[in-house]
Amino acid sequence: MDHFLYRDGQLMAEDVAIADIAAQVGTPFYVYSSATLLRHFKLFDDALAGMDHLVCFAMKSLSNQAVLKLLGDAGAGMDVVSGGEYRRARAAGIPGDRIVFSGIGKTREEMHTALTGGIRQFNVESEPEMQALSAVATELGVDAPITVRVNPDVDAKTHAKISTGKKEDKFGIPISRAREVYAMAASLPGIKVIGIDVHIGSQLTDLEPFRLAYRKVAELTEQLRADGHEITRLDLGGGLGIPYARSNEAPPLPSEYGAMVQEEVGHLGCEIEIEPGRLISGNAGMLVTGVIYVKSGEDRKFLILDAAMNDLIRPAMYEAHHDIIPVVEPAPGAEQTEYDIVGPVCESGDTFAKGRMLPTVAADDLIAFRSAGAYGAVMASEYNSRPLIPEVLVHGDQFAVIRARPTFDEMINRDTIPEWL
Ligand code: LLP
Repeated sequence: MDHFLYRDGQLMAEDVAIADIAAQVGTPFYVYSSATLLRHFKLFDDALAGMDHLVCFAMKSLSNQAVLKLLGDAGAGMDVVSGGEYRRARAAGIPGDRIVFSGIGKTREEMHTALTGGIRQFNVESEPEMQALSAVATELGVDAPITVRVNPDVDAKTHAKISTGKKEDKFGIPISRAREVYAMAASLPGIKVIGIDVHIGSQLTDLEPFRLAYRKVAELTEQLRADGHEITRLDLGGGLGIPYARSNEAPPLPSEYGAMVQEEVGHLGCEIEIEPGRLISGNAGMLVTGVIYVKSGEDRKFLILDAAMNDLIRPAMYEAHHDIIPVVEPAPGAEQTEYDIVGPVCESGDTFAKGRMLPTVAADDLIAFRSAGAYGAVMASEYNSRPLIPEVLVHGDQFAVIRARPTFDEMINRDTIPEWL
């Protein structure tokens, strides 16, 4: 459930009309609903209520500081994957002891930043990375709390580009070698083993792959304890999917996921951490865009929008589906037209949807892409010298621009022309 509904013929974000934001901010823009973000965070928090736990928002899905502060104030931790994300989380007021550092290629500089600024744990993904962390921590005279990310060789049954838990994927340490890697970790100075980490992929619409992976983690916990390691925390990753096509998708609910977690690992008495991104932010955001032209091709109609692949890359990159709806509510039984919905970028890949039925729209009408809160703004670029689009946060009947549209000069002036030219 989200808070983007029609009221009196107008699409609303909570109690604000999308058309009013568009009039003030101009299109295209991203809009997020605070109530939806908080609701989704709470669903996970409640789902794990029976266990000592921390929900760490995977901020790679949506990293605006206003969103981080909103979730942080509600008690969320953050899952970060770069020095930039770490700094952003800290700047938004997230305490270091609620920040988990994931990612397969943490540099020594990033380790240094996190160890000096405060960190809950590093999820280590390889032996060389563990050695580097040991060196950096020893030099600073501190212990780095770690889990090892294990690769359980489970098929997440999701899009190939977002599956991470098969043995051919670049992530984690093969679970079959975990015991030797933990033995090495225990022998290294500056490393303090506290738990195990696993993350098998994103947009999972079935609980079974999670269950298989968590069962393997539970077995490993017992083996490692028998080997003498103190395993007190399990980071179970993120990845629970959302319904992108509302009409025919119903992925498992956080409550069902939480019950499964309890069944598989509850008996171990570990503190549970999870790293959901998309389920918190995905349906909490929309991309709002204007129709520039309706163009009639030989055998089809093109809806040419002022948003493009540089603003929302998911359809071009993953063949992703986003529901697209008009901002003015169509009358019941309104005429429908089949459109190819495209942006103005000079690539055929700049196509959001082909042959999509929509209530007939005209130039200057506003339309909205649903489920665009996750991996939308964060994956945007300035391709074709199109400035990054604004982000707006709604709270009840108020809204605020939380990232302004840069001016053309701001964008252009980042380049420097060397003196010798
Ligand atoms: N933890 C780790 C270690 C991850 O790599 C990811 C996502 C998450 C948590 C959060 O997963 P989520 O709950 O959001 O599914 N750009 C792609 C998705 C890439 C996901 C990468 N890792 C997309 O637009 O579908």
